[in-house]
Amino acid sequence: MSTDTDPESTDADESTSNCGASTDTEAETASDSGSKCGASSSDSTSSESKCGGSSSSSSDSTSSCGASSDDDSTEKEVGATVEDFDADPGQLMAVGLGPGHPEGMTQRAREALLEADHIVGYTTYIELIPDEITEQAEEIYDTPMCGEVSRTEESVDRTLAGNDVAIVGSGDPNVYALAGLALEIIESKGATASMVDFEVVPGVPAAQSCGARLGAPLVNDTVSISLSDHLVPMPEIESRLHAAAKESFTITIYNPWSRKRRDNFQKCCEILLTHRDPDTPVGIVHAAGREDEQVMITELGELEELGESEIIDMTTTIVVGNEETYVWDDRMVTPRGYETKYDY
Ligand SMILES: C[S@@+](CC[C@H](N)C(=O)[O-])C[C@H]1O[C@@H](n2cnc3c(N)ncnc32)[C@H](O)[C@@H]1O
Repeated sequence: MSTDTDPESTDADESTSNCGASTDTEAETASDSGSKCGASSSDSTSSESKCGGSSSSSSDSTSSCGASSDDDSTEKEVGATVEDFDADPGQLMAVGLGPGHPEGMTQRAREALLEADHIVGYTTYIELIPDEITEQAEEIYDTPMCGEVSRTEESVDRTLAGNDVAIVGSGDPNVYALAGLALEIIESKGATASMVDFEVVPGVPAAQSCGARLGAPLVNDTVSISLSDHLVPMPEIESRLHAAAKESFTITIYNPWSRKRRDNFQKCCEILLTHRDPDTPVGIVHAAGREDEQVMITELGELEELGESEIIDMTTTIVVGNEETYVWDDRMVTPRGYETKYDY
């Protein structure tokens, strides 16, 4: 199974680390670098980010930024507040990278990343950004899996310290991602979204990238459900699955499988089969737009046993057709309803 786990799903079992990465011990003084880092109350010569990340700069100097005092094991408290920063704030942009290949990124996302002084993100996502973009950034701050709260706080602190910052994620920042968390953290620090000119730069969400690989399964009403019980309890996820499967929605399933979530996946398959026929078409897309992309169209009755195969992991999105979805020429087709009004 892949360990390329999306961080917002925070499934520590997929990682060999405990979400605490090695800290960057090469931190130099903020005055040595061109960037503005850290709150005024912290000593930039000794401040280190506690997010478990690594900070690198395109110049020789590196610096750890932000006045956060939390670490990954206790990442519930917000450290510095807006009062701790003397600088005029920069801009904070939550940028969606799309599925993962450079051509899948929007032009606006590319521009936003080129505008940013600092780019912050999960290491896997940072690696998806073309070199010509990361090379021009003053600093790249990346953390391994987990640490999404501390990483997002780091991006807010860097912005309040006067830098233009892009925090990146796969797909779209509004789909099971960090745009909302960024706003919550800004608010909890006593700052405002306007103060940091907060902008969400949309990206192509996994449902759409994966839908495109499968044909046209999503052209009618669609519901997305994440099987990650990190933030939503499983009974609630089960009741959402029942509600969606009872109605005639196409269902996209995010975060479908991990070693810790075998049971969630199994339960999901059982629930779907209580409302849908076993021959309901199901599309499985692993790592859309990435080197290890895999696509499969199967039937709902076959889905559960595929949970133990390589195609289904935390970089997979599953599309469950509605009762009208059919497979034609190796593509899923969900009629939009034109056939009821037009002859063709
Ligand atoms: C935390 S969510 C982030 C979703 C993302 N913000 C989006 O808009 O697609 C992570 C989940 O998105 C899905 N996903 C992300 N990238 C994917 C890709 N390239 N191919 C297939 N599924 C992907 C997987 O279901 C994964 O478990």
